Amino acid sequence: MLHLVQTPPGTRAETLPGERAGIEAARLAAIEQYGILDTAPEPAFDRITALAADIFSTPIAILGFIGAGHVFFKSHHGLDATQANRGDDPAAPVMMPWLRAEFTNGFHASVPLHDPDGYELGTLCVIDRRSRQVDEQQIRRLRVLGGIATDLLAMRLAARRALAQAEITSSEVDHRAMNSLQFVASLLQLQSRASGSSEVTQQLRAAANRVLSVARVHRTFSTQETAGRVPIAAHLRRLCEELSTSIGGEIRLEGADEFDVPKEQVLPIGLIVNELVTNARKHAGDPITITFHRLAGSECELCVLDEGPGLSGGFDVAATAGLGLGMKVVHALAAQLLGKFTAHPNPVGRGSCFKVVFPVA
Ligand SMILES: Nc1ncnc2c1ncn2[C@@H]1O[C@H](COP(=O)(O)OP(=O)(O)O)[C@@H](O)[C@H]1O
Ligand SMILES: [Mg+2]
Repeated sequence: MLHLVQTPPGTRAETLPGERAGIEAARLAAIEQYGILDTAPEPAFDRITALAADIFSTPIAILGFIGAGHVFFKSHHGLDATQANRGDDPAAPVMMPWLRAEFTNGFHASVPLHDPDGYELGTLCVIDRRSRQVDEQQIRRLRVLGGIATDLLAMRLAARRALAQAEITSSEVDHRAMNSLQFVASLLQLQSRASGSSEVTQQLRAAANRVLSVARVHRTFSTQETAGRVPIAAHLRRLCEELSTSIGGEIRLEGADEFDVPKEQVLPIGLIVNELVTNARKHAGDPITITFHRLAGSECELCVLDEGPGLSGGFDVAATAGLGLGMKVVHALAAQLLGKFTAHPNPVGRGSCFKVVFPVA
């Protein structure tokens, strides 16, 4: 015998077939915003099914959420199955056909889980393979557990909304930081033009470019849903275009692997490229090539190559003493990336290759 706690009539049962499609679309939109369908098990939901099974002394308890064509088992205590086909009778519990097929002559008690607008999001049920009696107190407790599951969902939704809001705020802050830094860079550029000394002009321009590199990073953060990581090839591609405009010539990005790096690594990477490309322009000229590859393990390799005169015999990039500001900056940034900065002859036979190898988390 199948004992059933009747689902209270909800929106699904009260409507005409024509209206149902619209309501179902709204219901699906409602469940989607929780981001719960087809997700990994979570201990908080598993505790609810464990307690439900305990209250009824049943071997099985399921907490299911209703998708478009299936009921997804967020928690399936005492059962391997992870989903069930959804019934389409609006007057019957959504898992009814599956329960009838899987547990003929068994027992099943369920409570529906509704959101504050009355949409049926899911169901909490206890199942046995043999028939049995239940009392009012057990049913009351099952309803309370269903309420706890809905409360968890509400908290989850609030957290998701807070996160989305934080992302918007953070992107606004990045946008403002970018504007301010671009303004500072423009001031430095103006000042560089006003200076009578070519050395001062050059230094001020270099400073303006460093500030612009930082501004670019804020622009990337403000325009992308970063979720803590940034697709680095796209960032480098834009950086190359902008560097071509600001320091002239063509800067090629070759074979950059598409992968994400943690947000914190984007600023040092951008500043390193700025320094090395500026040097290549100043000490070597066209062509300038940047490569960025993933190595075996978790390391990556960033190279800036030119075909200029190459490094003079006595030049040692590892001996930080006696290096110019640019090289010191690259050393410091490579250390910040927990990486290693080295200089080599360009494999094409002329010019140099500056390389930073660092781990990507
Ligand atoms: N691409 C390059 N080709 C040849 N020599 C370079 C290159 N980059 C750097 N160097 C050498 O390294 C020195 C130190 O560079 P850096 O610290 O950036 O100082 P700066 O560029 O102000 O001279 C340069 O003066 C130059 O002699
Ligand atoms: Mg330099």
